[in-house]
Amino acid sequence: MADRPTSNASTVRSLVLIAVVVAALAAAFAYTAGWLSPGRLTPAKIVNGLAPPGGAALGFRRNHAKGICFTGTFESNGGAATLSKAPMFAQGSYPVTGRFNLATADPKAPDATVRVRGLSLRIVGPDGSEWRTAMIDAPFFPVATPQAFYALLQASADKNDPDAMKNFVAAHPEFGTFVGWAGSAPWTASYAQDRYNSLNSFIFTNAQGQEQPVRWSFVPAAQPEAVSPDQLKAKGPDFLATDITQRVQSAPQRWTLVITAANPGDPTADPSKAWPEDRRKVEAGTLVVNAIEPEADGPCRDLNFDPTVLPSGMHVSDDPFPAARSAAYSVSFNRRTAEDKDYPRHPAGGATP
Ligand code: HEM
Repeated sequence: MADRPTSNASTVRSLVLIAVVVAALAAAFAYTAGWLSPGRLTPAKIVNGLAPPGGAALGFRRNHAKGICFTGTFESNGGAATLSKAPMFAQGSYPVTGRFNLATADPKAPDATVRVRGLSLRIVGPDGSEWRTAMIDAPFFPVATPQAFYALLQASADKNDPDAMKNFVAAHPEFGTFVGWAGSAPWTASYAQDRYNSLNSFIFTNAQGQEQPVRWSFVPAAQPEAVSPDQLKAKGPDFLATDITQRVQSAPQRWTLVITAANPGDPTADPSKAWPEDRRKVEAGTLVVNAIEPEADGPCRDLNFDPTVLPSGMHVSDDPFPAARSAAYSVSFNRRTAEDKDYPRHPAGGATP
């Protein structure tokens, strides 16, 4: 009997402790979900912002939804080994799964209506480590920060404020530079003729531990041929997939990987700022696209080309985009895989892009 008060006190203490732990966990979940700070930008908000007016295409990537998968190899010439100890930079041949794609949330968008094209790669090293990268054919990104990317999505969707885009452009002059590129740069009629750029900056580390900020590009072996928007339109809505399938059937298609090394002081945190053309360049090898794979039910279906999946010898820089992209791609991936029944791999699911 004498020890009952102590026992009661200890029970109360335990219950309080449990309540505190539960409350802390709930607060952590609420914070992560953005409920405690409605103004904070969350990956889910960005992904919601990508949805077209009619809603997201269920089962598809929330951006770059239209595309076509392929397999091939990366033939490393050993040239980049001085910059990075990444296993796929040792001379040799490494398997690749990749995807040509269009920067649109609409998997049925006609090819001639999408200005920006992309190339996504997963290169696997001999030790099983991976280098994933998703690049676009623009020479710089439209905006300087992930926050500005979200502001752009909001401004372009704002039907209530006729000045929304005008105000956005005034506050983000780099977007005007991008619009200038989009309006004047020639289009090609083939994924095979485009150059794809990382735009984001990363840090390479070599075997001696030396670090070097870099960006990279895949430069096509095929000569780019300019075509007019009208010529593109006349080719039909899905000519890019047909074209690349025919090209790869007749011969493997190639791109040279060119690594660009930053000079001290070059901006690494802002992909809207291109580095001067004279920067040191290193040819690291050749991407060889050997086979076009089905998009709907092929090897890219369950792949998330998260740009922070990097082998040893590469890591992210102070560029805020890769982390923001990683978080958004994960939300997109989780949604689209949860919507498996809506994806057109199933007979009831609708058209295959
Ligand atoms: C904050 C900025 C960005 C956001 C929120 C964003 C969002 C997304 C999302 C949600 C996807 C679909 C991912 C999936 O379901 O697997 C995607 C795909 C893609 N993004 Fe981004 N993106 C951003 C910046 C960039 C940049 C800077 C580049 C290139 C330099 C890029 C190139 C691509 C490409 C090529 C794909 C297709 C990947 C694939 O084939 O699966 N994105 N993006």
